[in-house]
Amino acid sequence: MPRQPLVLSLLLLVLASPFAPCAFAQDQAARITSPDGRIEFRVWSEDGAPRYAVTQDDTMIVRASRLGFRFADSAPLEDDLTLATTQTDSHDESWEQPWGERRIVRDHHNELVASFRRENNPELGFDLRIRVFDSGVGFRYEVIGEAQHAIVDEITRINLPEHSTAWWIPAAGWNRYEYLYQETPLSEVDRAHSPFTVRLPEEGPWVAIHEAALHDYSGFYLDQARGGILDIKLAPGSDGIAVHAGAEFTTPWRTIQIADEAVGLINSDIILNLNEPNVLGDVSWVEPGKYVGIWWGMHINTQSWGSGPIHGATNENTREMIDFAAENGFSGVLVEGWNLGWDGDWFNREETFSFTEAYPDFDIEALAAYARERGVRLVGHHETSGDLTNYENQMDAGFALYNRLGIAQVKTGYVADQGDLVRYDEDGTPRYEWHYGQYAVNHHLSVIQNAARHQISINAHEPVKDTGIRRTYPNAISREGARGQEYNAWGQPPNPPEHTSMLAFTRMLSGPMDFTPGIFDLIPREDSASRVETTLAHQLALYVVLYSPIQMAADLPENYRARPDAFQFIRDVPTDWEESIALQGAPGELIVFARQERGGQDWYLGAATDEEARQISVPLDFLEAGRSYEAQIYRDGENADWESNPYAITIERQQVSHTDALDLPLAPGGGAAIRFRALED
Ligand code: NOJ
Ligand code: CA
Repeated sequence: MPRQPLVLSLLLLVLASPFAPCAFAQDQAARITSPDGRIEFRVWSEDGAPRYAVTQDDTMIVRASRLGFRFADSAPLEDDLTLATTQTDSHDESWEQPWGERRIVRDHHNELVASFRRENNPELGFDLRIRVFDSGVGFRYEVIGEAQHAIVDEITRINLPEHSTAWWIPAAGWNRYEYLYQETPLSEVDRAHSPFTVRLPEEGPWVAIHEAALHDYSGFYLDQARGGILDIKLAPGSDGIAVHAGAEFTTPWRTIQIADEAVGLINSDIILNLNEPNVLGDVSWVEPGKYVGIWWGMHINTQSWGSGPIHGATNENTREMIDFAAENGFSGVLVEGWNLGWDGDWFNREETFSFTEAYPDFDIEALAAYARERGVRLVGHHETSGDLTNYENQMDAGFALYNRLGIAQVKTGYVADQGDLVRYDEDGTPRYEWHYGQYAVNHHLSVIQNAARHQISINAHEPVKDTGIRRTYPNAISREGARGQEYNAWGQPPNPPEHTSMLAFTRMLSGPMDFTPGIFDLIPREDSASRVETTLAHQLALYVVLYSPIQMAADLPENYRARPDAFQFIRDVPTDWEESIALQGAPGELIVFARQERGGQDWYLGAATDEEARQISVPLDFLEAGRSYEAQIYRDGENADWESNPYAITIERQQVSHTDALDLPLAPGGGAAIRFRALED
């Protein structure tokens, strides 16, 4: 054998040493690419430790990152693992949503199952199931073990390029998901919720991290270890264990969306595609629609939830609201504060809520009958103030009552500090749970399943984050899980103008939000520094840019009656769509959306800017070719400004077709809302 030059021998030595870069192991990685070939997921075992990495074209998206688990009383699943076998598959199928942002969803992906097994026992280990779509990847663990697992840590890492920029809200704080989004260098993130949105350095690709199909497991948040290394952290349970799992268990999908443009993150259906199909069968009883309610008055302090002189949920107020709904085509009337339990400090559970007993000035039977007579339904309300056991004991009776009265939707609430949800053992010992821990995740699912038995849909406030389970349970119709409009009544500070486009590229990636748009009196309180920091046109745009199959017209009827011209848009705009396309924008700057009405020909457009005025040009190529439309435009008027002149609005009509482009001036904090009414051929 010829003698090797010294330099080459040294190089071979370095490569063979455990401290050398992992070139050898990575070379033997199993790989799977997206259908268009641009995204590649690699997975390998590095000296027994499972690793993965993700690239798009030649860009490193996720650098080599660890995988595995640590348990309370069994050996960790993070080393002594070989990549035993791999299996690939591909899939291209379209499915129909009962309601949604688009009717037909295409699920096109390639799959790799990488089976990691213990070096000394091939019966133990996990399969990593990886699905790669053109818009990103999802992977989950399918663990096989010998005994129950008490997970203390899932050690999944997402090691992103360090000099990226991030858009995020803090995690693990008392206010659950209700924080203002911030844009910072990735290095300044400490603990963040998902969806977590990132842009790679040098105007690189956009990335969003989240999870899909969160069932019987804890929700995660991201914890920055150092230099772009994000560790998944599972919310702990009251006993200190993050997840109690069986000998065999499957985790939710960990998702990494990748897009060239920020809007590409929104236009992806990864989260829904990674959820299981509808298990409820015929869900024609799940009804999208618009609602009004006895609600805003409580937030601006002119009415109360509890009994007394300004009690909101009275027979008289409710009848008036039913009349207003019927006259203006709303299908629902929400009434909060109808049931016993609101007197005293309900935030701190001074009283216990009843879900079947009404205050004496609220005749639920007669009011439900009156609503039915007028062709609308009451929308139910179950505030739990975080007492899970009290709700679990009563929800069946509460849903049965509602169902008997023709009520098809219930808004639930979990007002309690994060970590302060309470459940009681049989002997009365309280246990405190996180809003996004395993117990809460299972609680929310049992509410949805129980409600489904009574043909009721659930709109949860202070919920666990959305992970697309509406595909499996289409009665999980909407939820909160971010700062909604209520912060503009009492929030310090209220939501700034950039909040809308922040939500669009972060929270909204997870699914519908009950934001409660449409406030027309933008400075509703004299006793507070809070106000709505948008123009009137921006409030209209919210119906198109922030998707929910149920949308509230949140303001008081008198404020709509005062502006019938702008109110017409709220009367017209649908909440269920044939197609939706995010067209332009970036988080904290701008969002422009076009959506086509489901079961109709009309299109709608919404645009919302931050505190900066912008002139945008929107090509109308989404419209049907060869057809003319009447564009009914609601845009910021001359000198409109959220702060100094928020009501200036111009409403005009114009005939357009798909070859046109519309130039729209957006004021500071402004927006535009357009109905494209299809004209006869
Ligand atoms: C918080 C909810 O977000 C809000 O809409 C509701 O009015 C209150 N809780 C009372 O349930
Ligand atoms: Ca809330």
